[in-house]
Amino acid sequence: MEKKLKVLLIGSGGREHALAWKLTQSPRLEKLYCAPGNVGISEIAECVDIKVGDIDGLLQFAKKERIDLTVVGPEIPLVGGIVDHFENAGLIIFGPSKAAAQLEGSKVFSKEFMLRCNIPTATFMPFDRIEDARAFLNHAQFPLVIKADGLAAGKGVVLCNALADGLEALDQMMKDKIFAEAGAKVVVEDYLIGEEVSILAFCDGENYLILESAQDHKRIFDDDLGPNTGGMGAYSPAPIVTETLLRKIEARVIEPTVRGMAREGMPFKGILYAGLMITSQGPQVLEYNVRFGDPETQAVLPRLESDLLEVMLASCEGRLNEIQLKWTPKSCVCVVMSSGGYPGKYENGYEINGLNVAADGKNTYVFHAGTKKDGDRVVTAGGRVLGVVSLGDHIKDAIQSVYVAVEKIKFDHMFFRRDIAAKALKKDHIKSANAVGR
Ligand code: AMP
Ligand code: GLY
Repeated sequence: MEKKLKVLLIGSGGREHALAWKLTQSPRLEKLYCAPGNVGISEIAECVDIKVGDIDGLLQFAKKERIDLTVVGPEIPLVGGIVDHFENAGLIIFGPSKAAAQLEGSKVFSKEFMLRCNIPTATFMPFDRIEDARAFLNHAQFPLVIKADGLAAGKGVVLCNALADGLEALDQMMKDKIFAEAGAKVVVEDYLIGEEVSILAFCDGENYLILESAQDHKRIFDDDLGPNTGGMGAYSPAPIVTETLLRKIEARVIEPTVRGMAREGMPFKGILYAGLMITSQGPQVLEYNVRFGDPETQAVLPRLESDLLEVMLASCEGRLNEIQLKWTPKSCVCVVMSSGGYPGKYENGYEINGLNVAADGKNTYVFHAGTKKDGDRVVTAGGRVLGVVSLGDHIKDAIQSVYVAVEKIKFDHMFFRRDIAAKALKKDHIKSANAVGR
């Protein structure tokens, strides 16, 4: 029998709860630790109080507990070089090296990489001097998009309709330094129009396996109105991603990215996440992430029938070519329940009721994101509080059951979107209309 493994998962969001839930289904798992985890994760793993940015602390823990595999959820430790530290100490870790993590850690790096590899993306100009960026904007056509180069917790992208918005964004990033060093450089790029999808792939440096498609809902309000958030819900599969489109995305984006990174001496291991805009000219890359998406992971992993632990090990060991991913044809929808006020100011500490009645453990799950224990009570402790997830034979069944579950959960000032996955239904109508020749 193959050796059982001790696994350390790093992170504390809904993404990590979904990862923990999937990892604990593996027959190869001996024990799962999570640093720092959350209330939901603590029910299925042993949580250890080490922060995601404390690379030394995480390394000491992994050595002491003889961890066989470490899985990194969020981008901060990846961009900080956790994979290099662990590998130098002889440990196995799922994720990209510091050099490869620049695909997410630096917009200038990723845009220049795409240009070198001829990967479709919005036309751009990088700037490291505010005077040059201002001069460029003064002669530019709007709308335009301004992006801080470094990590900015999802807030570093400003869509500018007119010159005044652009100049203000430049001032905030490059003069007032609202994102500190992350805004020392900026990218100005063309505004793309289309529908967004997320395509993720397991990579081992050379081989890749594309996951089922998902669509995130980034804006806070229904009908994609209001400010951007970390993501208010997701569904999988995304009907807009037809087989033909997926092959195009693979040939124009995923394959050249993996080949290009290997050719440039930064082979990409772990999860490659391509955030795409499907424009009239075809798919264009909006951004790369070097980790699972949140909340996309909550909608995608329940559909994965393969053993996630085996796939991650194969990624670390360069043998993804031996693996085939298996998926259920069912659809999955994740609705994020957030604290009222998010993505702006909000208050924590409200008791959450109904958690146990909402989940049925078969087709409906409640993944925790921002939760905390207060005595016997579970209370809110973040902007995104829970991800409620349902599988259904058809997307409309999944939508219906996820909202039945959402209605069972109550906390003061809770907020959620009521139109998650509604777009998928429209796509189904288009498809069925085409099928009958209308
Ligand atoms: P990013 O972090 O680069 O994915 O940007 C965050 C969000 O801003 C994306 O999910 C899009 O909704 C939007 N966005 C980014 N770049 C562009 C672009 N070039 N054109 C239109 N929207 C964009
Ligand atoms: N859902 C978007 C992200 O994970 O970055």
